[in-house]
Amino acid sequence: MSVRLSTALAAGAVALPEGRVLLMRPPADLDLDGLGPDRLHAVHGFRPAHDALTARGLSVAPRLEVEVEGAVVFVSRSKAQTRDMIAQACAAVPAGGPVVVDGAKADGVESILRDCRRAFTVGEVFAKAHGKCFAFPAQPAPGDWHDLPRHVAGFVTRAGVFSADGVDPGSALLARHLRDLDGTVCDLGAGWGYLARAVLASDRVTAVALVEAERDALDCARENIADARAAYHWADATIWRGGPFDTVISNPPFHTSRKADPELGRAFVRAAADLTAPRGRFVLVANRHLPYEATLAEVFAQVVVLADEAGYKVIDARRPKRRRT
Ligand SMILES: C[S@@+](CC[C@H](N)C(=O)[O-])C[C@H]1O[C@@H](n2cnc3c(N)ncnc32)[C@H](O)[C@@H]1O
Repeated sequence: MSVRLSTALAAGAVALPEGRVLLMRPPADLDLDGLGPDRLHAVHGFRPAHDALTARGLSVAPRLEVEVEGAVVFVSRSKAQTRDMIAQACAAVPAGGPVVVDGAKADGVESILRDCRRAFTVGEVFAKAHGKCFAFPAQPAPGDWHDLPRHVAGFVTRAGVFSADGVDPGSALLARHLRDLDGTVCDLGAGWGYLARAVLASDRVTAVALVEAERDALDCARENIADARAAYHWADATIWRGGPFDTVISNPPFHTSRKADPELGRAFVRAAADLTAPRGRFVLVANRHLPYEATLAEVFAQVVVLADEAGYKVIDARRPKRRRT
């Protein structure tokens, strides 16, 4: 349970107004004690967290949709994304209303605090659970805190999305093994659309489903792929239902928040088996050290390594064993 904010409120180190309060990218396990859940409006672009918060009874949307009196910004791993959220909060809250910032040291709250001290009038700093919580009265944020779309190798990306500053080398390696696909394709964890665009270079591909949990990344993919064969799904790939597809492709995520989490990649492998047609194939790329082989062997009858270079392996899996119920 994430208790820093509720503890800071109880200690009087920060305060929130009576009216509507915006929560920007709150953790799914946020302690709501003393926050008055009915007045909270969360903005969260990551589908699993969005759905978990909704299941807890909170009003959640992928974009800011309501007027608010105060805001809490939760520091993300991307400094540019955090500064952008603070700039959005400053624009949403009436001048002088409270903007609270809550974050872990491991996510860079110290550096955000230094930036905020330069730009705003920061009050008491409350330290707890390897992190900090502080507040300041809203005023316009410095202009360069608003994140603008980035242009990378002919693609649009945004702060906070995977590989925002360039094509991932693992994805580039996988793309080399995806030439001349045909039929229907599903890209699990499609990001800003690098692999899907590569796949759509083949005229024989009839449809590509891009399944991605981060709303910002999927919105970039929409801009990056102007092709009527593409369909966009803002969804948790581990539970998404569609297909079956002739080919499923993926560069699976291997992090849950800051922690390396091979279980997330394994859940992608199992989901891929459920989405692959009986005579279809699943092609994935992964860092060489990631332990996916056992799971691949559990859910596919045939597994072949197509490439093993520069720290990455490309694996082709066929004859899925798991059938959806
Ligand atoms: C390693 S990146 C690959 C992105 C893209 N395919 C590429 O090659 O550049 C993994 C992607 O999976 C997304 N992701 C993480 N968890 C997810 C989930 N549960 N469901 C769907 N996508 C998820 C991440 O946001 C990220 O864009």
